[in-house]
Amino acid sequence: MGSRGGTGPIRPSIAVFCSGNGSNFEALVRANRRGRFPGRITVMVTDNPNAFAIERAKRLGVPVLFVDPSAFASKEEYERALLKELRLWKVDWILLAGFMRILSPVFVRRYRHRILNIHPSLLPAFKGRSGIKDAFEYGVKVTGVTIHFVDEEVDHGPIVLQGCVKIREGEDLASLEERIHRLEHRLYPEAVNLVLTRKWRIEKGRRWVLLS
Ligand code: GRF
Repeated sequence: MGSRGGTGPIRPSIAVFCSGNGSNFEALVRANRRGRFPGRITVMVTDNPNAFAIERAKRLGVPVLFVDPSAFASKEEYERALLKELRLWKVDWILLAGFMRILSPVFVRRYRHRILNIHPSLLPAFKGRSGIKDAFEYGVKVTGVTIHFVDEEVDHGPIVLQGCVKIREGEDLASLEERIHRLEHRLYPEAVNLVLTRKWRIEKGRRWVLLS
């Protein structure tokens, strides 16, 4: 057996965590406003004052929460401050979208089965920071996108949704990257909708299974 979902708040408050470009963040906000998943993206959280995601948030009118990691002596203290802020914002769900920090087990447990991540490969293949490039250079013929729950290990938790991209004959890395990102922008909102609107459980800490 495992955890059951679909019993949280009807209109959850959602935070999106970004460190860089923020194209997934923008796609999520736009999808949310078109009613593609319930709840509301109330805040964009960043660890990087130069993230382009901040510009996007301003344009979209989404509040930005910058918690400066360099202001804290340890990861524990940084995460404690982050958790305190999230409590103030009454955040129910966290969507990682290019957040370049590994959350500690303490943080993950506090939001157990309430944190999703998007990774640009078909996990468990090509974990890590350069999933698209690694898959391309390996020479795979099919790669893709994975949306998964975050657990205590990196790029590892139960998988909610995957989509694949066939690498074209003669395609270069830039073209593949563009197609992967386009797929990400479509799939992430869909995955969020699944976890927020359907009943599900996680079996043996691994398999995410829809019940209805
Ligand atoms: C995406 O490719 C995502 O899969 C990975 O980081 C990238 C973030 O891109 N985790 P963006 O900041 O959303 O444009």
